[in-house]
Amino acid sequence: MRQNTRMRTSPILFAAILSLSLAICDKYVTAANDAWAQAYQRTQALREVGRRIFSDPTFSASGKQSCASCHDPARRYNPPNTLAVQPGGADLRERGLRSPPTLTYINRVPPYENHHYDSDEEADGSIDNGPTGGLGWDGRIDTGAAQAEIPLTAKFEMANTRAGVAAAIRKAPYAQRVRDALGSDVLDDDERAFKAVVRALGAFEEDYTEFSPYTSKYDAFLTGGAQLSEQENRGLALFNDESKGNCAQCHRSARGKDGTPPVFSDYGLIALAVPRNGAIPRNRDPAFFDLGACGPERKDKAAQAEYCGLFRTPTLRNVSLRSAFFHNGKFHSLRDAVQFYVTRDITPARWYAKGAREQVIAYDDLPARYHPNINREAPFAGQAPGATPRLSQSEIDDVVAFMRTLTDGYLKDDPYRAERKRAANP
Ligand code: HEC
Ligand code: HEC
Repeated sequence: MRQNTRMRTSPILFAAILSLSLAICDKYVTAANDAWAQAYQRTQALREVGRRIFSDPTFSASGKQSCASCHDPARRYNPPNTLAVQPGGADLRERGLRSPPTLTYINRVPPYENHHYDSDEEADGSIDNGPTGGLGWDGRIDTGAAQAEIPLTAKFEMANTRAGVAAAIRKAPYAQRVRDALGSDVLDDDERAFKAVVRALGAFEEDYTEFSPYTSKYDAFLTGGAQLSEQENRGLALFNDESKGNCAQCHRSARGKDGTPPVFSDYGLIALAVPRNGAIPRNRDPAFFDLGACGPERKDKAAQAEYCGLFRTPTLRNVSLRSAFFHNGKFHSLRDAVQFYVTRDITPARWYAKGAREQVIAYDDLPARYHPNINREAPFAGQAPGATPRLSQSEIDDVVAFMRTLTDGYLKDDPYRAERKRAANP
């Protein structure tokens, strides 16, 4: 009997409790949704402003240069031309030291560390991979937003002042959108206005579909949506083979243990001894050297010889859209870049300058006292004048053909996202 009564009353009670709790819940959910929707809209607005600032020349002292002048959106944020270093400064007559890197996949660059232990390393998580990560060729900067401060005011780049940047954003046709996103008084004060610009650029750089699209042919291949050609397949094998290119040791080509798509960099800082580039004006001074992690741009390791000559391993995604390679833009074809790897120590005369008595100055862009820092693992290991290069001429072509599969835009959408969706709803 009791049982029965309960059976009869409980659905009513249950319905009452349910509708009451739904009503309460609904209120909170609506409030939470509103807060979330507002935050989302703010981020979207900031991102859109960032996109516009990125290509807006009024933020430079010259009035002629924007971020896009050096990081061209049409080339996946690689430089727009074949110059080793881009013009900059108030009159666009300054020249910096380095070739602008692509900005794609910068969200994958880990913060800088002196000693990096990789938990995703198949071999052993206790191996010290040495200095790793950080933005800039020397790893000196940690996040996109902090990074944007540098080009806006750097003498070689946009050469503006913080007040100049603040004035530009106040005059921009989209100034009101910044106020909507960050507060109506955010542009009143120069320093806050400058920070708002930097924040908007940082928000834009976090737009994954723009900066981390994962839409290359190689991504299609890894997710089962495309075949590589015979040549590309040979190139991939040579790229991975430890006794041939050994490129994947630093430019990782395999997915992580958790399925993360490869970015073709382990972000290690390495000395490859790229030849000195006479096209860079600062290099006319024979006493000047760009030593990467030990300076001159990076300051914290100036007194530590073991950091001299080290530059951060770049991603090779979208590398075929570049026309100047390595930190100093020394080479202008992918083929020459690979040729350099396999013959650096076999035919040094081909790569390095000659001294007064016609002797080759080996590793001419790194003073001799730092030569112990130079990487000598494969493909360099065992190479000396007279040795056979690890890659033949046709094998070099294969590796280049493979690197061309790393260009985004082959697919319309990120195939890993579809893969994750399928895994979640089998
Ligand atoms: C005059 C050319 C030039 C302009 C203009 C320029 N950059 Fe750069 N950018 C470079 C160079 C060169 C580097 C590499 C600097 C280094 O390694 O010291 C770089 C590096 C970067 C990096 C780090 C990338 C990485 O992989 O480490 C980011 C992010 C970046 N720039 C964003 C911007 C933004 C945002 C703007 C506009 C506010 C901008 N750049 C304007 C030349 C430029
Ligand atoms: C020991 C680590 C290491 C290995 C092995 C290695 N690389 Fe690199 N790679 C780097 C570093 C570091 C740089 C940047 C060096 C610099 O600019 O001074 C670089 C730069 C490059 C660049 C220029 C990219 C750009 O944006 O300008 C290309 C192309 C390249 N590597 C291809 C290859 C190929 C192909 C192989 C195999 C034959 C290979 N790498 C092997 C570390 C490595």
